[in-house]
Amino acid sequence: MPNTKFRFALYLCLVALISILSATAQAPVQLTIDAAHPGVTINRNIFGQFAENLGHGLYEGIWVGPDSKIPNTRGIRNDVVTALRALNVPNVRWPGGCFADEYHWRKGIGSADKRPATLNSTWGNVIDTNAFGTDEFMDFLNQIGSEAYVSANVGSGTPQEAAEWLEYLTAAAPTALAKERAANGHPEPYKVGFLGIGNESWSCGGAMTADYYLSQLKIYSHFVRNMNPAQQGKDEMFKIAVGPGFPETEWTEAIMKAWQHHDWSWDFNGLSLHWYTVPTGWPPSMSSTTFGVDDYAKTLKSTLFMDEFLRKQEAVMNKYDPQKKVALVVDEWGAWLAPLPGTNPHFLIQQNSLRDAILATLNLNIFARHADRVRMANIAQMINVLQSMILTDKEKMVLTPTYYVYKMYVPFQDATFVPITFDAGTYTQGSVTLPRLDAIAAKDKSGKLWLEVTNIDPQHSAEIAIDLTGSAAKSAHGETLTAPAVDSINTFDTPHTIMPKPIAATIEDGKLTLKLEPKSVTVVLLEPE
Ligand code: AHR
Repeated sequence: MPNTKFRFALYLCLVALISILSATAQAPVQLTIDAAHPGVTINRNIFGQFAENLGHGLYEGIWVGPDSKIPNTRGIRNDVVTALRALNVPNVRWPGGCFADEYHWRKGIGSADKRPATLNSTWGNVIDTNAFGTDEFMDFLNQIGSEAYVSANVGSGTPQEAAEWLEYLTAAAPTALAKERAANGHPEPYKVGFLGIGNESWSCGGAMTADYYLSQLKIYSHFVRNMNPAQQGKDEMFKIAVGPGFPETEWTEAIMKAWQHHDWSWDFNGLSLHWYTVPTGWPPSMSSTTFGVDDYAKTLKSTLFMDEFLRKQEAVMNKYDPQKKVALVVDEWGAWLAPLPGTNPHFLIQQNSLRDAILATLNLNIFARHADRVRMANIAQMINVLQSMILTDKEKMVLTPTYYVYKMYVPFQDATFVPITFDAGTYTQGSVTLPRLDAIAAKDKSGKLWLEVTNIDPQHSAEIAIDLTGSAAKSAHGETLTAPAVDSINTFDTPHTIMPKPIAATIEDGKLTLKLEPKSVTVVLLEPE
C-alpha cells in the first residue's frame, strides 16, 4: 500500500514537472531586425480616436458642464484631459458615426441657454442639450493637444450647411460667420485637419448606392472649403470619402475608378474603411467581462481578419491609384461586444479586458505593416463606448487596458517601420489556431529603435532572442502589460489590475533575450550602451 501511495505521489510530481517544463522550456524564438532597410513612416494618425455623440461618450465622458462638482475647465473634465494628453492623441473624429448624418451644427453654437434640446434619434432617442457643440469640441481638442476630424452631414444635411460649418470654423476674413465665431469666444480661425464627407453612406448615412454617393461626394468635396489661410497648400485639409464596411469590393471599385478620372473640380485624399471585431456575429453577444480562453482565441482569430480585409481593398486601390496618393483610413475599428448587463443597449457600454489590449496591438501592428496605404485609423470609441480608452462613472474614472496599449505605443507615432523576421509559431485553442507571437519594430525620429512583441498564448511564456550582430543595440528595457487572466479588467474599485510594469532584457553571447509572460504586450527600447 505505501508503495502504491509513493508511486502515485511520484506520478503527480512528474505531471507537475512536465507541465512546468512545457510552460517554459520552448526554445527561444530567434528574431532578426533589419535596421539597414527601413520601410515607410507609421503615420501617427493611425493612433486616432473617435468620439461620437453616443451614450456617455461625450456627455459625462468629456462634458460635465462648467457648474459641475467634477473638476473641469470650461465644462470639460480635467481628469480625462490629463489622461488623454499622455496618449499624444493625433486626431479625434466627431460628431459621428451614424450620428453625424443627423447633426445640424447651428444647434450647438452660441450661449448654452439658447441652444435647442433635440433628440438623439440615432442612439436611444435621448435628449441632447447640444451643450457640447463645435466650440466645445475645439476647446477639448486644444486641451488635449489634438487635431479635428470633423464628419459632415451628407445624409440629412445640405452642401450649404456643411460649407457654412467649415466657414464658421475656418474663415479668417471678417465674414458674418467668422464674426459669429468671434462673438462665441474664438476670433482666430480654427484648424480643421480632416473632413469626413458622410459616414457609412451605404447604410445609416442615407442607404445610398455608390453612384448616388459619388454625386454627393463630388459636390461636397468642391464646395465644403477650408478657409483658414494657414491651411492652404502644404497643410491643407485632408478630405475623406466614405469607403466600405464589408469585405466585398464593389463600393471601393466604384469610388476609386471615378477618382482615377477626377478633374480639378473634385478630389479626396482618403477612403474610409470600417471593420469591427464581432466574434459571434451581429448582434454582438460576446461578453466583455466573463469569458475563458476559448472565447479569447475566437475573438483574436476574428480580429486578425483585418489584414485580409485591408489586402482586398488595397488591391482595388492599387489598380486605380498605384502611386498610393489616396490613403486608406480605418476610421472605425475595435471590439464590439455585448452591452454590459443593466445598461442602455443603445449606449454601447462594454468593459475592457486584457483581451482587448491584445486585440488592439494586433490591429495596430497590422496597420503598421500596411503603413504605405493605411495612414490613419480611429479606434471606436474614446470614452465609455465600445473599446474605449477610459470609463467614467460620475466623478470616477478608470483607464482601460487598451489605454495602456496606446500609451506604450506612443514611440511608434511617426516612427519608421523596420522589417523584422521571426518564426511566430502557433498557439492552438480547441479548433482555433493563431500565431503564437506578433511583433513590429520601428525607428523613432531621434533614431531610437523600438520593438513591440505580443505573446498571444495565454498559457505559455516565450523567449525572444535578438541577434545583435551588426547592430548598435546593446541593451533593452521597456514595459510589459499582462494580467492574471484573459478576462482581467480594471474597475473603479480596482483600477490597477492591468498596468504596464518595467521589463529588461538580458544579454548573453551577443544575443539579447527577452522573456515574455503569457498573454502579454511588451514594448522595449533597444539602446546602444
Ligand atoms: O461606432 C458605432 C457606430 O458603428 C457608428 O456610429 C457607425 O458609423 C458604425 O456602424
